[in-house]
Amino acid sequence: MTSQEPTAVITSQGPTAVINGIGSCLPPWILSNEDVARRGGLETTDEWIRTRTGIARRRQVHAGTSTGDLAVAAGRAALASAGASADLVIVATTTPDRRCPATAPEVAHRLGLGTVPAFDLAAVCSGFLYGLTVATALIRSGDCTRPLVIGAETYSTIVDPLDRDTAVIFGDGAGAVLLRAGERGEPGALEAVHLGADGSGSDLIAIAAGGSRRPDSARTSRDARYFRMSGREVYAQAVQRMTESSRSVLESAAWQPAGLGAFIGHQANQRILDSVAERLAVPAHCRFGNIREVGNTAAASIPLALAHTAARRVVRPGARSLLTAFGGGLTWGSVALRWPSAAPCTADPETRSVLSTSHRAPRRKSCSPSTTIS
Ligand code: UT7
Repeated sequence: MTSQEPTAVITSQGPTAVINGIGSCLPPWILSNEDVARRGGLETTDEWIRTRTGIARRRQVHAGTSTGDLAVAAGRAALASAGASADLVIVATTTPDRRCPATAPEVAHRLGLGTVPAFDLAAVCSGFLYGLTVATALIRSGDCTRPLVIGAETYSTIVDPLDRDTAVIFGDGAGAVLLRAGERGEPGALEAVHLGADGSGSDLIAIAAGGSRRPDSARTSRDARYFRMSGREVYAQAVQRMTESSRSVLESAAWQPAGLGAFIGHQANQRILDSVAERLAVPAHCRFGNIREVGNTAAASIPLALAHTAARRVVRPGARSLLTAFGGGLTWGSVALRWPSAAPCTADPETRSVLSTSHRAPRRKSCSPSTTIS
């Protein structure tokens, strides 16, 4: 597969995956731009952050709350939204609870899913769309019937609070979808996907130390310990790759941008999203997102924006919709799907009693309504 060719996961024949449940979880601590600027050391302002990124505030976990906690809460909400259980769990994340083992098996356990297969997926901000693609392939092969795909992040644990390129844009959160087998054309159906990667840009978004190439030690510098991003170069790549990938997936689905009912891009920077949408000629009324309220939540970005948009009930179920993402690796991906009919649910990550309760397939009406963030 070259960067311009669609993956062969979803073809015109046979079943595909359908989004059957949507869940989200935001930690309650809200950090405004003024809060970030007040911390000192960044020499930034609310005005700069708003005009250059479109972000007004972001969420952050309190010490002791992990990515897995957010993933469990969002996953539980997606199961409640569908009123069903899962037979596989994928957690897309850059910020796993531990370097070893993966976060997903413990998430599955805490969700009361028994011994279902569970694994993490590392594709940084494109991780959720990579996860959707893998889950769809497993449904099509018959190896699973109800995969739960979660994007969850706690970037506050890896971002340098003194780094201007990252401290102002990243936030914490989680989103999840439960998939089932279904037919193309029905609400929630994945119609086409496109994935790509270019490792020649692997240094543009990276944490230099802490892996096998450069293990963490007492001598690890501040620069190498934290998440770093070459902002301007990444910006240009993000616009180019998300535009090209979107064109590829629209071509595979035989859809025109003018016929879209919803466009959701990775919530990296509002200016990037506007550039991609302009280049694709996506009509303004169908561009959705929540960057103003949650910032860039990496692998959680797309499912959170999907959940918050679905909660507003502004898109007709079944409408042609486009998701596109770009992130470290470099990686990128796009999905053409029919807008789901599922009513999203939210969960509070810091309510321990809820988190520790085993999942018992709830009925749809038992879930709490999703927070509306426009
Ligand atoms: O999620 C994975 C993918 N990530 C992305 O796609 C993010 C891509 N990059 C970006 O979103 C943007 O590059 C940033 C938000 C990181 C930076 O915005 P920018 O518009 O590219 O800023 P810049 O680096 O071109 O700097 C422009 C000006 C400079 O000042 P001068 O030289 O023009 O006087 C910077 O010093 O803005 C200044 N600046 C800031 N000022 C206040 C840079 N960062 C800040 C800041 N606060 N945080």
